[in-house]
Amino acid sequence: MCGIIGYTGHRPAVPLLLEGLHRLEYRGYDSAGVAFVQQDKISIVKSAGKLSALEAKLADHPTLLATSGIGHTRWATHGLPVEKNAHPHLSEDGSIAIIHNGIIENFLEIKEELLAAGHTFLSDTDTEVLAHLIGHEIQNSTSILEAFSHALKKASGAYAVVMIAKEDPNTLYAARMSAPLLMGVGTGENFVASDIPAFLPYTREVIFLDDAEIAVVKTDSWKIYSLEGLAPVQKSISHIPWDMQAAAKDGYKHFMLKEIMEQPRVITDCLSGRVINDSHEMRVQLHELDGLPIPRRLHIVACGTSYNAGLWGRQLLENVGGIPTDLDIASEFRYRSPILLPDDAVMVISQSGETADTLAALRLAKEKGCPVIGLCNVVGSSIARESDVVLYTQAGPEISVASTKAMCSQMTLITLMALYFAQRRGRKNDPLLHALCLLPNQLSEILPSLKKTAERLAIAFSGARNFFYLGRGQCHALALEGALKLKELSYIHAEGYAFGEMKHGPIALIDHDFPTFALALNNELFSKVRSNIQEVLARQGRIIALVQAEDGVLPDLNVEEMWVLPPSHPATAGFLALPALQLFSYAMADYLGKDVDQPRNLAKSVTVE
Ligand code: G6P
Repeated sequence: MCGIIGYTGHRPAVPLLLEGLHRLEYRGYDSAGVAFVQQDKISIVKSAGKLSALEAKLADHPTLLATSGIGHTRWATHGLPVEKNAHPHLSEDGSIAIIHNGIIENFLEIKEELLAAGHTFLSDTDTEVLAHLIGHEIQNSTSILEAFSHALKKASGAYAVVMIAKEDPNTLYAARMSAPLLMGVGTGENFVASDIPAFLPYTREVIFLDDAEIAVVKTDSWKIYSLEGLAPVQKSISHIPWDMQAAAKDGYKHFMLKEIMEQPRVITDCLSGRVINDSHEMRVQLHELDGLPIPRRLHIVACGTSYNAGLWGRQLLENVGGIPTDLDIASEFRYRSPILLPDDAVMVISQSGETADTLAALRLAKEKGCPVIGLCNVVGSSIARESDVVLYTQAGPEISVASTKAMCSQMTLITLMALYFAQRRGRKNDPLLHALCLLPNQLSEILPSLKKTAERLAIAFSGARNFFYLGRGQCHALALEGALKLKELSYIHAEGYAFGEMKHGPIALIDHDFPTFALALNNELFSKVRSNIQEVLARQGRIIALVQAEDGVLPDLNVEEMWVLPPSHPATAGFLALPALQLFSYAMADYLGKDVDQPRNLAKSVTVE
């Protein structure tokens, strides 16, 4: 979704804004722009396409005198991704410029009123309407701050907005309502951004804005007010533990590859402090959950890859943890009036902690009086702050749009939760806990060879325009994730399906040109999967089967490619299969020359519904 950065300080603002926008590229965007005040005038430079196009345009503009400004990468919602719709947008009189992430839902009504008052609009966006509304309010207010708040109170919907004003060039006005926005506090300089990496090289001191708050940010001071009544609000500064190293590629060709290869470390960090080894007895410690009664039923709600992690974990939560578990896609859950009973709990899973539908589901659960457990990666994110209990997945910054290590960390934490609830019921599962602790070493050993096999298979199957990913049980969730990764990265049509459902329709598609990625891991469903594989082979389907050797013996499957993983506990086999699926999609996208870290049309953090 849209990336936002605002800067006021002592450095030339425009290069710094561009640098920040580059670090936000991972959010996904289709146009970009900056605004700054120079010679008593707000200058705006914007362009459709990548930041390089904006940089080329800026090369013709003198910008060095500006030490404050705002920058934006846009992910189109209202209006095509063309230059006129890129942000920033000016008010009618050119006195202010704004950048915005979110949707102003009543923009058509406001636009009609402004058109009637003689305004003319240059774009199709809701953002320009808001800019005009603020400009209009300035004429009837005693201060810019008052006008900003009056205008925002008239706008309904979600927004993170940052504004500069010609009259007051070194001040940023920022406001948040259901879209992420934070401040970076520096020395003699301050920042506003949608995401921490935007200003990470300059400061790790952060203030998280809450909904209905306005920040007035100057070069060496800042004040925060309530939107309603402009009452001063006290905020604390949080220190962010990551450094730029964590958000850099570290010699890898793409962030995605780096993040896949980091998974052994991710599991170690997620287990750290949560698996206790006391006098030869291992147990799980999740203090965050100690105060929560064991839920009668757990409702997992999430989107995208986080949903697939939830689907993978449901079986463990039920079979190991003993907790009946439902699962919903957040955009469905929030509109289907779910029945939540007093002893239930909702668990939202989100890497970013900002996904609009997941956040809305969380709020709905709270309205219904249901405790919410948040599984989140980004510290201080909206979901982390609004959940009753938050368990951090501790995966570190995930930059590539396609989520990889976050899923691995979510699977680790769900396994720990299942073991934790089992423990609270007096049931231990030492073999599973041991297997979980062995994973970092096991994964480190196999990742290099998985990468090689993935590269070979990607070339061999690069002509395919369609792919099935099939699995049963927990492998069904992995099949969905494998298919999601392939389609989002290489734009090859891929369907994840439950193997047992194939004969109810999808098998009609199978022929020699429609290959299948079969998840045939060692578990109680293997014999069923073997029969399903025969059904595909009987229709001339090509198959890559992800299998495990048992006592050195390979399963007897007559498939084109057998991709062999080492033996493991059945419940941890998914951790070995996941990077194979990720690396196959990565290698395919790279081989086909796709934009691996920023696939077309996608956003890292989906902050509109
Ligand atoms: C976007 C991302 C996906 C991610 C999904 C959910 O669609 O491109 O990679 O899985 O959002 O994001 P969340 O941050 O809530 O896990």
